[in-house]
Amino acid sequence: MIKQEDIAKILDATEIVDVVGAFVSLKKRGVNYIGCCPFHNEKTPSFSVNPSKGIFKCFGCGEGGNAVNFLMKHEHYTYPEALRFLANKYGIEIQEVVLNDEQKHAQDEREALFHVTEFAQKYFADILFNDTDGKAIGLSYFLERDLTESTIKKWGLGYCKDKYSDFTDYAKKNGYLEEVLIKSGLTISKEENHVKYDRFRGRVIFPIYNIGGRPLGFTARVLSSEKTKAKYVNSPESDIYSKGKVLFGLHLAKNEIVKQDLCYLVEGNMDAIMLSQNNVENVVATSGTALTVDQIRLIKRYTKNVTILYDGDSAGIKAAFRAIDLFLENGLNIKIVLFPDGEDPDSYCRRLPQEEFKAYIRDKAENFILFKTHLLLEDAKDDPFKRSSLIKEIIHTISLIPDNIERAAYVQQCSSKLNMQEEVLNNELNKLLRQRHFNQKKQEGDIVEPPADLFLDNDTEQSFITPKQSEKQILAETFPDESQERAIISLLLNYGDKETTQLIQDKEETYLVAAFLVGDIVTDQIEFDNKTYQAIFDIYKSYLFEKGELPSLHIITNNQDKAIQDIATTLLFNNYSVSPLWETKGIIIPDPESQDKLNQSIKDCLLSLKINKLERKINVVKDKIKQETNEDDVLILLSEHKTLLKIKQIIAQELNRIVTK
Ligand code: UTP
Ligand code: MN
Repeated sequence: MIKQEDIAKILDATEIVDVVGAFVSLKKRGVNYIGCCPFHNEKTPSFSVNPSKGIFKCFGCGEGGNAVNFLMKHEHYTYPEALRFLANKYGIEIQEVVLNDEQKHAQDEREALFHVTEFAQKYFADILFNDTDGKAIGLSYFLERDLTESTIKKWGLGYCKDKYSDFTDYAKKNGYLEEVLIKSGLTISKEENHVKYDRFRGRVIFPIYNIGGRPLGFTARVLSSEKTKAKYVNSPESDIYSKGKVLFGLHLAKNEIVKQDLCYLVEGNMDAIMLSQNNVENVVATSGTALTVDQIRLIKRYTKNVTILYDGDSAGIKAAFRAIDLFLENGLNIKIVLFPDGEDPDSYCRRLPQEEFKAYIRDKAENFILFKTHLLLEDAKDDPFKRSSLIKEIIHTISLIPDNIERAAYVQQCSSKLNMQEEVLNNELNKLLRQRHFNQKKQEGDIVEPPADLFLDNDTEQSFITPKQSEKQILAETFPDESQERAIISLLLNYGDKETTQLIQDKEETYLVAAFLVGDIVTDQIEFDNKTYQAIFDIYKSYLFEKGELPSLHIITNNQDKAIQDIATTLLFNNYSVSPLWETKGIIIPDPESQDKLNQSIKDCLLSLKINKLERKINVVKDKIKQETNEDDVLILLSEHKTLLKIKQIIAQELNRIVTK
């Protein structure tokens, strides 16, 4: 476990733009940075990062938090993993507190998988370069395929000896548990006869890394051309490896993809490695599986432009067709290069001089629609039936493009290619689009939307952003004064460190906003009904009262309580819209540029909170009076009622701009 003070050091050193920027391409927009959200699929950026507050928020899907939350969500790190990553990045030394066995176990399962995979990667690489068999069989294979030593090292390639369980035995000797070895897929266990053996024995090893460059699993190739064995054997899915969620080579390619604003997509691992060795470094491989939406999202974080480099055979073309549709639906720009028959990117790249190959993939890159039209035309020739289904096929593809203007441009191009009137194509296209629109609506109709008033106040005020479900639920547990409570917390978070001047018994006094708010609320013994707001308030209270200082924001945005994180991030990003209807009600919207507005807003918020609480108290007393039978007690209650009404009147006068009942 990491010590609390080290956590504070790490968080203080962390620059959120740095951290998020390693995974998402961000552009500066005002005080924030924006980009396309890595957590859901989107075409226009709604993902914001605020460097000074150290938080991110997606206004599309609602995901938000600080740098640690980002890493946990994005890299699937555990909390300590994320902190260690940051400590490492910013050169902060951490002292680990020893864990008890139970804690260890819970935290260690995934970590153990990472460790054993890392261990295996190093082991296989070491065998390749230092073992007699490794050199004679594995290394010579790679060298024969024209890989250089530095390429082999860069990709961490290796060899697993054909010795039944050499690796498994060695790993066990080094303290790795059999159970973990089996979970990671490195070791296969045959239940029937209790034997354990190495999954990848006798194969060369290609590690598969996550974006951060940590090995997650392997794909291993046979050396012989025996048809009896599968050409590649892959790691099974595990807690750390899911083949549809990684792209081979992305950890090495990502920076170049951003620089070139283009990603080359190939099928084979060897293709990716060979291209990269030949200075085409913005390349990733799908590793032979059908492309998934998750993989497209991975690419989309870095660029919207993809050029597919597939074999020119029919399997390659089919794969390309499938990929094209998926890319289009996801708003990417797609080009395609086919290689001459019998060539794949790897072989062709070795055949041509470097510059010629580069020119080939640059100049031969054909717009997908022309490519598809071209191919299908060749196939259809003059057969009218084939021609008509070809047109439908192409129109279908065009219909997947989300952008209207782009769609129109493609219709135009196609009409000249196919020698058909644009109008005919447009009719066909519109039919399809209408049909899809209708289907979508029908589907949406089936989804029961939570009633809109779930997270609204008793008035019809609407938040600027739509909170995601968990926030909705939190806000749903609200009470009539939710909006007032929220306003106070928003002021604390956004303006707590500013100064405010308030009139105290006719004397102007200046306070820190947080100190003034906390002091006033504590004096009046006001409790928040919403427990998350109360928890945030309590953090401020204990810091101010016990340490005499403000809590730093990351104490709150990084809180263990997910509800606190969520609410805080939402309010921090939403500081000017505490409540959009306020102004119409006469409440001043806080404004850091205007001291007057800030002062006024603080006063308004406090008074309207108090008046609400008071009203509820009055109602409670009223109810009691109705039920009370003892006359003495009724009298006491009546006098309490009267006092409360008086206080309410005073507050209402002060708050004369607010309509009160
Ligand atoms: P290829 O057969 O094109 O492989 O399959 P390659 O990488 O170009 O291999 P070489 O050039 O023959 O050495 C493309 C990808 O499909 C996956 C692998 O990831 C491979 O890189 N694949 C292929 C498998 O997972 N299993 C298989 O049996 C075959
Ligand atoms: Mn190949």
